Amino acid sequence: MNYKNDLILRAANGENVDRTPVWLMRQAGRILPEYRKVRASLSGFKELVETPELAAEVTIQPVDLLGVDAAIIFSDILVIPDAMGLPYRMEKGVGPIFDDTIKSVSDIKKLKTADPYSDLKYVTDAISITKKELNGRVPLIGFAGAPWTIFSYMIEGKGSKTFSEARKFLYQEPAAAHDLLGKITDSTIAYLKSQIEAGVDIVQLFDSWAGILPKEQYLEFGLKYLRIICDAINEVPITVFAKGAWFALEEIGKLNCNTIGLDWHTSPEMARRLIGTEKTLQGNLDPCLLYASDKDLVKETILMLNKFGGQKHIANLGHGVYPDTKPEKVKLFINTIKEYKF
Ligand code: CP3
Repeated sequence: MNYKNDLILRAANGENVDRTPVWLMRQAGRILPEYRKVRASLSGFKELVETPELAAEVTIQPVDLLGVDAAIIFSDILVIPDAMGLPYRMEKGVGPIFDDTIKSVSDIKKLKTADPYSDLKYVTDAISITKKELNGRVPLIGFAGAPWTIFSYMIEGKGSKTFSEARKFLYQEPAAAHDLLGKITDSTIAYLKSQIEAGVDIVQLFDSWAGILPKEQYLEFGLKYLRIICDAINEVPITVFAKGAWFALEEIGKLNCNTIGLDWHTSPEMARRLIGTEKTLQGNLDPCLLYASDKDLVKETILMLNKFGGQKHIANLGHGVYPDTKPEKVKLFINTIKEYKF
């Protein structure tokens, strides 16, 4: 494929770039009025995710409207439990909810390994349409949740402050926990491979709840499965974003991946020290800086760019952009990065 702009792929592969590429986690979504308009015409979030033409449309919106250097396919990490037999629904003002949760070994036995070619065809169809419509303007990012984060949602049934149900399960049923994590991992590998076949150029694993485990448990129940996935995916560059897992950065740095995403708690200097010079780093401006004055936003964005040093860096926020952020602030963040000369 000939790209008009392949900066993000060059950076992920450790090649030199003329300027730092930039995209935002959650760039496709409620920050854009154009997204809210498409969303308002439907019964809900799930209908949007499951209608390939519309999912493709909102995937491309940030490329047209914000000028990001990559698109990320519009979907959710929770399509995996859904495809395994545990459906979610999106509740307005609350977020995702699973009416049934995993409570026992027999609940795990009832789950199947997802077959992406039948259960998740709406995602690969959306990818095919998006690739065609992007026509090489920018690369397309595919993604999945990390097994530990998906496991947590399947046990808790919703978001949580403490995730104590999921953590309790690790102490009370460690063998069953490994069983479930293994099933999620198999489903995720098949899913990512199907996304790659459909045309995604790079994939990212979101371990949003990595930071709630003690280190030893994260290595056993989190990192172990990230390693299996990274070892299985060799077709395209892979990014691991383990939010809050500063305590395991050295181990994360040894994964068979190209890029490591950093949250805003982790300094680029510390990450480089622990990870070494080989990997590309992604991140990590505090998403709340997009509420600051223009002057402070520009100053902090440039400070961030300098901390990463200009190469082997993909600029992003330290987590998803908050839904009430003004698109003008996002554009200022993006343009500051695009115009900056080292
Ligand atoms: O632009 C993109 O990044 C692509 C789309 C994307 C969504 N969810 C769309 C979405 C991606 C990559 C995700 C990943 C995701 N989903 C994660 C990992 C990243 C992270 O933020 O840590 C998690 C934990 C989820 C689960 C999830 N989905 C939650 C907790 C929520 C509710 C919170 C919220 O933002 O409302 C969602 C809903 C969701 N996923 C929305 C979008 C655009 C909002 C739903 C709507 O439009 O009504």
